[in-house]
Amino acid sequence: MGEQAAACVEERQESGASASTSIHYVQYKDEDDLTIIMDLVDKELSEPYSIFTYRYFLHNWPHLCFFAYDGDTPFGTVVCKMDSHRGQAMRGYVAMLVVDKAYRGKRVGSELVKMAIREMIKGGCDEVVLEAEVVNTGALKLYQGLGFVRDKRLHRYYLNGVDAYRLKLLLPLSEEKLAELAAQAEALELEGVAPGDSLGGGVVEL
Ligand SMILES: CC(C)(COP(=O)(O)OP(=O)(O)OC[C@H]1O[C@@H](n2cnc3c(N)ncnc32)[C@H](O)[C@@H]1OP(=O)(O)O)[C@@H](O)C(=O)NCCC(=O)NCCS
Repeated sequence: MGEQAAACVEERQESGASASTSIHYVQYKDEDDLTIIMDLVDKELSEPYSIFTYRYFLHNWPHLCFFAYDGDTPFGTVVCKMDSHRGQAMRGYVAMLVVDKAYRGKRVGSELVKMAIREMIKGGCDEVVLEAEVVNTGALKLYQGLGFVRDKRLHRYYLNGVDAYRLKLLLPLSEEKLAELAAQAEALELEGVAPGDSLGGGVVEL
């Protein structure tokens, strides 16, 4: 863990903060990165997080945290986790996403989320969820653009009293999951039940 993801290095000639910037993406390395995340997140998100919350995510899923840098300056981050949901699905979760105001609108937020989702797919996730304030049109548009759909409205979800949307992205089924479902379908056929009857007519409840 901790090696640079270095997934994308782009030279940008006209990218806002300076005439020529070098935007690149880096995976979380160690506790030294913690203050960078706290600075970025505390500045922008309405919800206050304790250091224990940050450590919960970063110690358990360091590979699901990425930064965007302009040269030596960090200006964006995403913090996520993934675990089993009710013993049925592997669920990825985007906990925090922030891009400094000076760098918004350049698809950096989308790129950070995509990098985390790629890791989640590698880890066998079936779906990704997150919450966003119903008034956060920027975030809602970003996630909609990545294929997320509104799953639920959560009443007064945030400490500031604002409602949230739970957004969900269904990922392509892994080979393992397909094999598991095929085995279930075969067992049902042996019992004389049409697979569609129990799998909701082909719609798989994850
Ligand atoms: C939300 C946030 C991360 C977006 O970062 P970003 O790098 O500017 O987003 P992107 O450039 O990847 O935008 C992706 C899409 O969303 C749209 N979008 C982003 N912010 C928008 C805004 N404020 N209003 C309207 N559309 C917006 C972009 O136009 C783009 O749409 P397109 O694909 O049709 O061009 C950033 O505004 C931010 O840090 N906000 C404060 C923290 C926050 O709200 N985090 C999300 C918590 S759920």
